[in-house]
Amino acid sequence: MSSKSPDRPKKAEVTRRPHRLPGAAISLALVVLIAVGVLAVRQYGGMSTGIAAETAGRESTMKIGGPFTLVDQDGQAVTEATFEGRWLLVYFGFTFCPDVCPTALTRNISAIDLLGEQAEKITPVLISVDPQRDSPEKLKDYVRFFHPRLVGLTGTPQQIASVAKEYRVFYVKSPGDTPETYLVDHSSLTYLIGPDGKFVEFFSHGLSAEEVANRLKQRL
Ligand code: NI
Repeated sequence: MSSKSPDRPKKAEVTRRPHRLPGAAISLALVVLIAVGVLAVRQYGGMSTGIAAETAGRESTMKIGGPFTLVDQDGQAVTEATFEGRWLLVYFGFTFCPDVCPTALTRNISAIDLLGEQAEKITPVLISVDPQRDSPEKLKDYVRFFHPRLVGLTGTPQQIASVAKEYRVFYVKSPGDTPETYLVDHSSLTYLIGPDGKFVEFFSHGLSAEEVANRLKQRL
């Protein structure tokens, strides 16, 4: 018994292996494939934001921002001239965004609030990258949830494409469960525009409200 018993479990294992391992191996391979797929999607999403950040950061002489014609949450036509003389904290997003946009807008609003009296100098702006769903009415309901002074801008798909190009903002529709529930992948930088209408600097998504506020204080 003592000499044979060590063999028995081994034999059992050997006979089980051909049945069990392929199944386990296939499951493992599937898990790995799915994980790689998920990582690839995340990587791609991160990359697109990263590229925008890098492009904006590296080439500081590159022109960012410019003229635009859009419509605000009250249905009024606005251009860059509408905001002349004011500092703008501009973010591109959409009201249907589940997490990134609310986080960024909350951060931007908090940063402005941290400025105390200086806060009045800055107008926070949300430019929609989802003109199909973000009507002025929809934006009006959304922006007042964040701040009484938050301006929501939308326009025709062509007008949005044009202003996004000016700001080198990337955005692309990502299909949802139904045609109405699509998401929009988009760059998540916030742009500071000076009273002269010119781009001053951008703030990446990862910065805290305090960090943004400190950098704003140096500019105002
Ligand atoms: Ni978003």
